[in-house]
Amino acid sequence: MAAAFLLALLPFFVIGCDNVAVDSYYRKGALATASPIATQVGEQVFARGGNAFDVAVAVGFALAVVHPEAGNIGGGGFAVIRDASTKEIKALDFREKAPLASSEKMYLDSLGDPIENMSTVGAFACGVPGTVAGLYELWQKHGSMKWPELISYAILLADSGFILNAYQAESLAKYKDRLSVFDESSRLFFTGSKNWQEGDNFVNRQLGQTLAKIANEGPESFYSGDIADSIVATVKRYGGLFSHEDLASYQIKWRQPVNFRFDSLQIYSMPPPSSGGLIMGQILKLVEAYDFSKFEAGSIEYIHLFCESARLAFADRSEYLGDPDFYNIPFDLLDSAYISRRRQLINLNQVNSSSEILPGIMPSRESGQTTHYSVVDAQGNMVAVTYTLNSAYGSKLAVSGCGFLLNNEMDDFAIAPGVANLYGLVGGEANKIEPAKRMLSSMSPTIVLKNDKPFLILGSRGGSEIITAVAQLLINFSRFNLSLEKSLSQPRFHHQWLPDNIVLEEKSFDINLKQGLIKLGHIIKEADVLSEIHAVYINGAGLMIASADRRGPGHAGGQ
Ligand code: GLY
Repeated sequence: MAAAFLLALLPFFVIGCDNVAVDSYYRKGALATASPIATQVGEQVFARGGNAFDVAVAVGFALAVVHPEAGNIGGGGFAVIRDASTKEIKALDFREKAPLASSEKMYLDSLGDPIENMSTVGAFACGVPGTVAGLYELWQKHGSMKWPELISYAILLADSGFILNAYQAESLAKYKDRLSVFDESSRLFFTGSKNWQEGDNFVNRQLGQTLAKIANEGPESFYSGDIADSIVATVKRYGGLFSHEDLASYQIKWRQPVNFRFDSLQIYSMPPPSSGGLIMGQILKLVEAYDFSKFEAGSIEYIHLFCESARLAFADRSEYLGDPDFYNIPFDLLDSAYISRRRQLINLNQVNSSSEILPGIMPSRESGQTTHYSVVDAQGNMVAVTYTLNSAYGSKLAVSGCGFLLNNEMDDFAIAPGVANLYGLVGGEANKIEPAKRMLSSMSPTIVLKNDKPFLILGSRGGSEIITAVAQLLINFSRFNLSLEKSLSQPRFHHQWLPDNIVLEEKSFDINLKQGLIKLGHIIKEADVLSEIHAVYINGAGLMIASADRRGPGHAGGQ
């Protein structure tokens, strides 16, 4: 009897060679998302024979229902994908765009000072959304199931409701006052209950109807049909700038991923208009030359090296990165000679001051939100999607009668030189506001091959912290030889040049470590947690191991 009991438990306790319980290996497909319900949707799509792209589309729509603080159809994002049939790796840009009527100084008063909240709250803060066009493109080019079928899961969740977990109930309570500023959002989120509790059923029939239109009529309903009419009417009612032309002219873009090697890993990540791939690449290339046998994960020496590298990389972000359709990056930020010269500025015994570290030159001349999910299938199709409303619940403005929120992505532009955005990031000319331009992002959906085979899919939420979190996970995995679980659970830290301080996850670092960093000259700030990575690792035997960051409500699963 006792033996039978132990045998029944065995699958939960046997630790495989990758240091994860063997019951979490998957063979047909695996995914990790910010929501247990969205992950179940993905598992059902896999069970019906869908590929990783089908799963990515169904999960994208499901998150728009069950994770409304960041999952969306009123925002935008990026995907980095690998098509197993061609082995091609591509980056899909469905980032929001500035409305055609935007102008460089639209958030400044007559004295040239930023007007409070204008780029972050309400209609004036919204960029033209790209998510519906992006998910449609993923399906059209790579999906295998029917489009309406992939949206049907989200429609069911919106119409019948879903059970709020503790995270979601707390999130709605936290943002109640800010969402209630707008009647549309107040009705949408607080009609069923003024005070949502864990276990309540949350229904959004308006969103169910909107999604049904998108399922039956395709993205045209969103960009030029009834939904477009409602978006434009709502935005205009609150003084925003959208016109029908803004929506009708929205287009996705396929781009070449940023591609570089770190140790034996072949890394593919998002190029501009995201800074993610290049800045992560700079950090990894700067640290790659150091002998890590001297460092331990989480040691003062390693954190110092990483943060000094991040300081240099983020200085370049402020100067050189913006929408490549409007601004030419003047040189290759991953050029090895350039990286070597920048590395010489790193002093292992002392901090640099960000007021002295300027963006480099070649001699010849976001509480942030956002959500990421990772999907892989047995064929080797890989999909890394990060999409966002920018801050939690975006602009807080819901589209009248349509059940979804609009983003506040305009704040990701440099609204004036040197003025920090929600994430404390500064920028200038390269990321100034121009009509129809895409605002600079930090989102870093990333896929990694090893020996040309699928190896890792990852990305994160968290604004500028995304970049450092993804870079740290890759270092934990490759340099410190930690399992995926351990790589994820390592305490995180962040530096972004300005503000000139290290951010440490509070409760994760002891007093000696903090004192050691202070002695080196660092200024320390603390945050509850940094970022939330959802990743899938494919081991040497082709088994898939999915992992959701315990810092958030996420869940991993598969078939
Ligand atoms: N809105 C956050 C980002 O794109 O980086």
